[in-house]
Amino acid sequence: MTDNTSPEVPLVAIAYHSGFGHTAVLAGAVAEGARDGGARVSLIAVDEITDRDWQALDGADAIVFGSATYMGNVSAGFQAFAEKTARRCINGTWRDKIAAGFTNSGAKSGDKVAALVSLAVFAAQHHMHWVNLGLGPGWNSSTASEQDLNRLGFWLGAGAATDVDANRDQVHPADEATCRHLGRRVAEVTRQLIAGRAATEAA
Ligand SMILES: Cc1cc2nc3c(=O)[nH]c(=O)nc-3n(C[C@H](O)[C@H](O)[C@H](O)COP(=O)(O)O)c2cc1C
Repeated sequence: MTDNTSPEVPLVAIAYHSGFGHTAVLAGAVAEGARDGGARVSLIAVDEITDRDWQALDGADAIVFGSATYMGNVSAGFQAFAEKTARRCINGTWRDKIAAGFTNSGAKSGDKVAALVSLAVFAAQHHMHWVNLGLGPGWNSSTASEQDLNRLGFWLGAGAATDVDANRDQVHPADEATCRHLGRRVAEVTRQLIAGRAATEAA
């Protein structure tokens, strides 16, 4: 039996930027999935980051990065956060943590794979272990549906599309479910890594 402060409970931080609230809804879904997967979660809006949030990031076993897609890449708000991590990058503060990512654009494609690639490169610069989405593509055959998990067909991370004039409560339910899946997967992989490290140290 473990409580949620025991070392076996993965600490998952979600660091995201959302200008208009859509990506924030998806960050909430990632958090929900990670909690379902047994993790303790810190949800961090990087444009309002506090000292306590930085401590949560440094203490996390896994960090899931999320950004709205702006101009075919991560937003300036996310990149400003990324640049603030340069000292941690040099010092290897986040080395060997788990990482994963999600993004949201207005267009169904919207060139958002470039934003996911940016998030993965950012994680690699920190020497983190990138976890992919772990789902086959949805909505890609005559019998498939827009409600499928991974309806937009990404492998690298979770990709969502929200109409540019939508309210927060109009984020697509399949995209929220896909982000919940990502959160759960990150919690599970992180638990495996923690257990593997403990077994390696004990051997
Ligand atoms: C400056 C800016 C640039 C954008 N660039 C893109 C883009 O390259 N591709 C796209 O599909 N949507 C683009 N959009 C639309 C946003 O990705 C979309 O509105 C998204 O839902 C916003 O997420 P947020 O509410 O988390 O900020 C852009 C929006 C803004 C404000």
